[in-house]
Amino acid sequence: MLTKYSLKMPRAVFGGENSMDNIAEIIQKLNAKKVAMFTDKGLRKLGLFDMPEAVVKASGVEYYVLDDLPAEPSYMAVQAVVDEFKKSGADLIVACGGGSVMDAAKLASILVTDEYGVKELLDNPGMAQKCVPIVLIPTTAGTGAEVTPNAIVGVPERELKIGIVNENMIADYVILDARLIKNLPRKIAAATGVDALAHCIECFTSNKANPFSDMYALEGCDLILNNIEKACDDPNAMEEKNRMQMAAYYGGLAITASGTTAVHALSYPLGGKYHIAHGVSNAMLLAPVMRFNAEDPSVKERLAMAYDRCCHEAERVSTVEEKAAWMIARMEAIVKHLEIPTSLKEFNVPAEDLESLVESGMQVTRLLVNNMRKVTADDARAIYTQIL
Ligand SMILES: NC(=O)c1ccc[n+]([C@@H]2O[C@H](COP(=O)([O-])OP(=O)(O)OC[C@H]3O[C@@H](n4cnc5c(N)ncnc54)[C@H](O)[C@@H]3O)[C@@H](O)[C@H]2O)c1
Ligand SMILES: [Zn+2]
Repeated sequence: MLTKYSLKMPRAVFGGENSMDNIAEIIQKLNAKKVAMFTDKGLRKLGLFDMPEAVVKASGVEYYVLDDLPAEPSYMAVQAVVDEFKKSGADLIVACGGGSVMDAAKLASILVTDEYGVKELLDNPGMAQKCVPIVLIPTTAGTGAEVTPNAIVGVPERELKIGIVNENMIADYVILDARLIKNLPRKIAAATGVDALAHCIECFTSNKANPFSDMYALEGCDLILNNIEKACDDPNAMEEKNRMQMAAYYGGLAITASGTTAVHALSYPLGGKYHIAHGVSNAMLLAPVMRFNAEDPSVKERLAMAYDRCCHEAERVSTVEEKAAWMIARMEAIVKHLEIPTSLKEFNVPAEDLESLVESGMQVTRLLVNNMRKVTADDARAIYTQIL
């Protein structure tokens, strides 16, 4: 039987020198009359929003800015921004920010209706159609949200984060401009960079992996394993930052063609209940879950394939066992070097919460089914116990 694969992508991605200028061409091409610009207050204060705003302003089109969005918003906070957007009658969205801003803008692009809102999409994500074209400009490297059909929102009453998947949320245009991540604080660069690594390695070891996702996942993994420390440590390492931006994009493509697995599944309650940043919760779980997964021969084999592609050290290891162990050790070394917390103690999570964590994590069946090694409640308990 032939392997099944499919991959939907944005119409165009612009990167490198002066890529921001492409916004003007897009406005012209789509004959847009009014642009809604999504960002957040922090980015505006830092002056990062000035770059896309200047291009939109210079194009002469009418525009207004929506910046009232907290990081990692709940579905109610996103709905408030969507409601504000709906009043505008804008016919193009330009969103500049991290995953939080981009996800909110993506939801707005399919929710110009009074019939249903973000809450309804939690149960029936497929019903919404694209209403307004969208340009995404990431400022972290990162979530890959600029290219995925997913938007993730907090659901406080379930103490979880939930991913809404609808292919109408795939961006029309993406702009990758490394100047936006030049001064990304090390802590945020580290967490978002490890999130991108998790996307690549999970998608490569997923039940949904296929030749298309493998290509992007491996390239992304190679770029991240060999650039992340320098990109985070040195504000002037523009080549390395540029590579991280591409790797995050590849990670998003890998998610679109494949799917993340138990790292992301078990991470959702940590974001939903304790508001631990998405990248940090994934970084904590990455090695424990990969060690668990590597007990499965198919995962071990895939980790060894990733080693062959990504390890450029002169001193080589040779067995599948050693190669898989090298990959996991390398992931742990990155998390350690970047000083990302590895214990829930740092977030004052009491040990008594273990059972509720297990219960919530096991609800994320959308991603757990992608895990090559079956995860039982006992397995989830053992994994969470390692980071308590
Ligand atoms: N849609 C997807 O496919 C997908 C994938 C993974 C994660 N996510 C979601 O994305 C969200 C996380 O996004 P994120 O990790 O990009 O962070 P974020 O958007 O939540 O931003 C975190 C903080 O970093 C700041 N920031 C962003 N860019 C900056 C820059 N260049 N310089 C200085 N500060 C900057 C923001 O203002 C914010 O305070 C979560 O809700 C997560 O669940 C979505
Ligand atoms: Zn992620």
